[in-house]
Amino acid sequence: MIQLLDPHPEFDIAALTASSSSAGKPYREAAKWRANAPIPNGIAELTVAETDPAAVADDVDLLFSSLPSSVGEAVEPAFCEAGYVVSSNSSNARMAPDVPLVIPEVNGDHLALLEVQRDERGWDGALVKNPNCSTITFVPTLAALEEFGVERVHVATLQAVSGAGYDGVTSMEIIDNALPHIGGEEEKLETESKKLLGTFDGAEVDENDVEVAASCNRIPTLDGHLENVFVETTEDLSPEKAAEAMAGYPSLDLHSSPDPLIHVFDEPDRPQPRLDRNLGGGMAISAGGFSESTFGLQYNCLAHNTIRGAAGASVLNGELLLESGYL
Ligand SMILES: NC(=O)c1ccc[n+]([C@@H]2O[C@H](COP(=O)([O-])OP(=O)(O)OC[C@H]3O[C@@H](n4cnc5c(N)ncnc54)[C@H](OP(=O)(O)O)[C@@H]3O)[C@@H](O)[C@H]2O)c1
Repeated sequence: MIQLLDPHPEFDIAALTASSSSAGKPYREAAKWRANAPIPNGIAELTVAETDPAAVADDVDLLFSSLPSSVGEAVEPAFCEAGYVVSSNSSNARMAPDVPLVIPEVNGDHLALLEVQRDERGWDGALVKNPNCSTITFVPTLAALEEFGVERVHVATLQAVSGAGYDGVTSMEIIDNALPHIGGEEEKLETESKKLLGTFDGAEVDENDVEVAASCNRIPTLDGHLENVFVETTEDLSPEKAAEAMAGYPSLDLHSSPDPLIHVFDEPDRPQPRLDRNLGGGMAISAGGFSESTFGLQYNCLAHNTIRGAAGASVLNGELLLESGYL
């Protein structure tokens, strides 16, 4: 998040907050910084504050939250009540009816749900969520196929270890191995995709009827979630038409929205995590391997899980909030 926000033309980092065990320390001391570049100048010496509205200056316009979901559940509403706008990557409240769950290029119009949220909760602030990293990878490709009547989807994920956090899986678990279970992940793909592809009618999001079955696997890649997708549609859909629809799916005129949004490969063995995860600064989705199967269209897609799937997703939602006049 810091690596994306520090050079950002529209945002300045005003404060950093964390748990009580970090509060009061300079960021360089509090952080377990393991990124591939040093902590940006000016950030290392910032003093970490408590994650409490009273500890954050009133003139801060936007908070990016990536808290453990149990903490986010308690803390994020307190910030919204205190008047802050929160763009959150944590999984709490993603499916709450009055909380927009947004991928700007797919359902940016759902942001208007904030009017309902503010009315119902009496907040001056606002809470916006981005979806799970594996959901973000395949939903834009489905959005590109919507004109063909997407009815049923089977998706199997091959997820990188960074998605589990630094201490998520041990080397003894993952080297020479694959883990065919990621707790709670399959349900997130199945439910969040219906909300993202739903229709906002001015009062609520009418979820999409698409049926999604997911199977989630952890594999020994560092970054980049690869997914194998099978799609059944009501209209005829050839591999060529699918590739064309994805390649032509529009991006947005926002700083972090890549052009093209979906990078389509002709080569049958692409996309691959190591080769293709950094396309579009890590914000592009890539797709390839289009073919016909017994279960309809088959293809593979990929996204960088910690950029497009997490920090970059929150930053992009921040850009949409700014453009839409919520800040
Ligand atoms: N979009 C996605 O799919 C995606 C991908 C990955 C992760 N996530 C979500 O992102 C969140 C963070 O994951 P992570 O791996 O970045 O976790 P992490 O490295 O453990 O970071 C969590 C942060 O929350 C702070 N924190 C913990 N307890 C707190 C408390 N009681 N009060 C205030 N701050 C507290 C920590 O502060 P200290 O440093 O002081 O402990 C730390 O800064 C999780 O909800 C996870 O599910 C989402």
